[in-house]
Amino acid sequence: MGKPKVVLGVSGGIAAYKACELLRRLTESGHDVRVVPTASALHFVGAATWSALSGNPVSTEVWDDVHEVPHVRIGQHADLVVVAPATADTLAKAAHGLADDLLTNTLLTARCPVVFAPAMHTEMWEHPATQENVATLRRRGAVVVEPAVGRLTGVDTGKGRLPEPAEIFEVCRRVLARGVTEPDLAGRHVVVSAGGTREPLDPVRFLGNRSSGKQGYALARTAAARGARVTLIAANTGLPDPAGVDVVQVGTAVQLREAVLKAAPDADAVVMAAAVADFRPAAYAAGKIKKKDGQDPDPIVLVRNPDILAEISADRPRSGQVIVGFAAETDDVLANGRKKLERKGCDLLVVNEVGERKTFGSEENEAVVLGADGSETPVPYGPKEALAETVWDLVALRLN
Ligand code: CTP
Repeated sequence: MGKPKVVLGVSGGIAAYKACELLRRLTESGHDVRVVPTASALHFVGAATWSALSGNPVSTEVWDDVHEVPHVRIGQHADLVVVAPATADTLAKAAHGLADDLLTNTLLTARCPVVFAPAMHTEMWEHPATQENVATLRRRGAVVVEPAVGRLTGVDTGKGRLPEPAEIFEVCRRVLARGVTEPDLAGRHVVVSAGGTREPLDPVRFLGNRSSGKQGYALARTAAARGARVTLIAANTGLPDPAGVDVVQVGTAVQLREAVLKAAPDADAVVMAAAVADFRPAAYAAGKIKKKDGQDPDPIVLVRNPDILAEISADRPRSGQVIVGFAAETDDVLANGRKKLERKGCDLLVVNEVGERKTFGSEENEAVVLGADGSETPVPYGPKEALAETVWDLVALRLN
């Protein structure tokens, strides 16, 4: 089998320089990359750079090497087309099927998965015209990753930044690995909670847990690569935002609940991967708690936190919604998991055995996914992404 063939479409935005890094990552990981810039992209990065980095010829128009019929062949032979950055203009052309240069022709002839990584000013991204074009492209099965929030060209900040090349590369790798042209979560909105809540005692101390957030982030990344719009509610993870995902940062269980209840009414699936503190200190000391000479410390009185998973499972924010919980157990894993699934009332429960080898923060995981329908899906020890893919397989089965 030859190298996977990737077409890297580059349209005319300042973020074109970041596509050089994406190109390097693709070529260094064994992909044969053909860069197809638009004419305006060449104002930002010249053809010589694209050609030297890809080792392939570069043209913007359909009139070069016409005998090779490039306007048809490049798209036909591709295993993946990724457009990064995708400007508002390129998204509009793609949505409407215009074909006035080599990139837009390639988009019409490609029968492989297509990923768009938009980058533009916030106003252009939020304009109804752009939003409708993005919705059209997603409906047709393209993966459109959400732009990141941050510094834009000049002094502006807001939503519209091209996600980091490493993150776009991860999306490409996953889309290629799945090799599907119809992402099964396209047009779906999923909410994922990740990390661990912190319950403050005073301005400098909190009760927390060891959850790293990696499993939740793997869920968010894989859902985005399968075409979903993803809201990731992150509690104290310190991890970089995954590409194409809306990230809401929270601290405590009460904040996490608010964020979930806000996002859930519009969601097709909610996955509660976060480790939510069951209790919080009854009182918060506005000043730092000091030790007193010769005196024992005051006991910490705890109160119950709301159980978010049980709450949304009992009172579904949207009918037909699939709700997934996580459980970490040390003994009688399956029996305890079954009981928890019933108690919480969710549709799926991912049960992990926690112990010596299976520490928090690791890159790997092993689990059994229990279904309210009595199903049991074991997931062997392996990357957290593999477990995430199984969760989405089971969610997609229930949605479709
Ligand atoms: N969870 C939640 N709200 C809480 C606590 C937990 O939504 N206040 C969710 C977690 O995100 C996870 C699932 O519930 O998806 C399992 O949490 P866990 O703490 O293991 O469940 P408990 O019922 O508290 O069981 P245990 O007594 O074993 O702690």
